[in-house]
Amino acid sequence: TSLFLLFATVYGSDLQRQDAKLELEEYIKEASQKINQQYRLQYHVAAPVGWINDPNGFSYYKGEYHLFYQYYPYDSVWGPMHWGHVVSKDLVTWEHRPTALLPDEEYCFSGSAVVDGDKMILMYTAHIEKEGSPTNQSQYLAFSDDGVNFEKFVGNPVIPASPNHSPDFRDPKAWKHEDYWYVIIGSKTDDEIGTVLLYRSKNMIDWEFLTILAQATSDLGYMWECPDFFELGGKHILLMSPQGIEPQGDRFKNLYQTGYIVGQFDYETFKFTPETEFQELDYGHDFYAAQTTESNDGKRILIGWFGMWETAFPEAKDGWAGAMTIARELELDSNNRILMKPLTQQNSLRGEKTFDGDLKENQVLELQSASEVLIDIDLSKEIHLLLEGRSGGGKAWLKWDPAVGKVVVEREGDDVRQVEWAPVSNKAWRLFLDTSSLELFCGDGEAVFSSRVYPLGGWNLTNLGSQALQTTAYALNRGVPV
Ligand code: FRU
Repeated sequence: TSLFLLFATVYGSDLQRQDAKLELEEYIKEASQKINQQYRLQYHVAAPVGWINDPNGFSYYKGEYHLFYQYYPYDSVWGPMHWGHVVSKDLVTWEHRPTALLPDEEYCFSGSAVVDGDKMILMYTAHIEKEGSPTNQSQYLAFSDDGVNFEKFVGNPVIPASPNHSPDFRDPKAWKHEDYWYVIIGSKTDDEIGTVLLYRSKNMIDWEFLTILAQATSDLGYMWECPDFFELGGKHILLMSPQGIEPQGDRFKNLYQTGYIVGQFDYETFKFTPETEFQELDYGHDFYAAQTTESNDGKRILIGWFGMWETAFPEAKDGWAGAMTIARELELDSNNRILMKPLTQQNSLRGEKTFDGDLKENQVLELQSASEVLIDIDLSKEIHLLLEGRSGGGKAWLKWDPAVGKVVVEREGDDVRQVEWAPVSNKAWRLFLDTSSLELFCGDGEAVFSSRVYPLGGWNLTNLGSQALQTTAYALNRGVPV
C-alpha cells in the first residue's frame, strides 16, 4: 500500500500541476484579450498579460532561439515569479509558448538554460519566503525534451546555499567548456559587497564551488545581480547588474546599472584578471538585467529588460508592464569597449520607406508607431530633435552637442542621460521607435540609449536644430503577436 500511496501522491500532484498549467494558459488567453492596446509594442517582446522583468534562459535549442522572462501573469506588478516563454527563428519575430515554470513553494527567480544532448536544462534560483524563517535562495533545475514542457528536478536544490550562506544568492548563468559545466551566481559578502561565485560540475547536478570570480571594489555595489560570463574578441567579459552604485556625473544615473568588466580568464587557475573598470552598457533610462547567448553562427547576442526597478510603467493600468529590448549583437573594440548593434536581420522588419531626404529646420515628420529612422550626423553641428505624440502624451529630445561631444537623451519629467560619443567610422544614428519605446544606436554601437516613452497617436519627429538632416525612415512590420 505504501508504494501505491507514494505513486498516487506523486502522480496526483503531477496531475494537479498539469491542471494548474492548463488553467493558467486559459487565464492568459482570456485576460490578454482585455488589454488596452494603446501602448502595446509591435516588435518588442512583452508578456501577453501581466508583469515581466529580467530575460532568462536565453538559448538556442532544436533550431529555435528560446527566451524566457520573469513573469507574473495575474497583475501588472511584480509577484510570485513564473518563467514566461517566447521562441524565435531569427531573433526578430517572436511567438509565445506556454508558461515554462510555475511557482510551487518557491518563486522561480532568474536563471539560464543549457542544452545537453537532446535535453534543455533550465537552472534558476528558487526564492523561498516562509514565515518565521529567513529568506532562502538556492539553485534549482528543470528539464525538457521538447523545449515546451518543463519538469522540475526531483533532487532540487542542486546548490542549496552559498559558501557564506548569504540570503542573496541568485541568477545562475551556466555554460559548458570542454568536459565541465560551469555556473556563475550573483551574491554578496557578509559585509555587503557584491560578488560573483564560480562553480563547476560534470553533470549539472553535483556542483563544486571553485572561487569568487570577481568582487566589488568599495564603490561597485552591495549586490551583483544577473551575472553573465563569455568570450568576446579574445577576451572574457563579465557582465552583471550591480545594485548600490552611486551616480557619478553622467554615469550610473539609473537606480541600478547593467555593465561589464573586460578581462582574461584562465580555466586552469579559474582566475579572472580584469583589464578595465566597470562600464555601463546602455545609457538610457530603462535597461537592466541583460543576458546573452551565442547565436547559431557564433555571434554574441544580448537582450535586456526594457525596464527598471521602482519606476512607473504607464501601461500597467492597461493590464501589462515591461518588455524586452530588441536583440543586439556585441563586439569588442580595440579599446576594450563593447559595441552594441541591432542584428542584420532586424532589417527584415522594414516595410514601407516613409521618408528619404532632408529633414529641414522645424520640419515635422509623421512616423508610424513602429518605425526605424536613420540620420546622418555632421559632428561639427548641433542636433536637436523632438519626439512627441501626435495627440500628446510623452516626449523626448535627442541631441548632439558638438561643444562637449555628447549625445543627449532627455525624457520629459526626467534627468537627462548623456554620454560622450566619438564615432570611429560610421557617423549616423539609428533610431528604433515602437509604440512606447525608443532605442538609439549611435555609429557602430559606441553609445546606445534605451528608454520607454509614451506618446499618444503615433510619433512626430521635429527637427528643432538649425540645419537640415539627411534622414531615412521606414515603417516597421510586427515582430510579436497581437
Ligand atoms: C533582477 C532580479 C534578479 C531576481 C529577479 C526577481 O532584476 O532582482 O536578481 O532573480 O529580478 O524577479
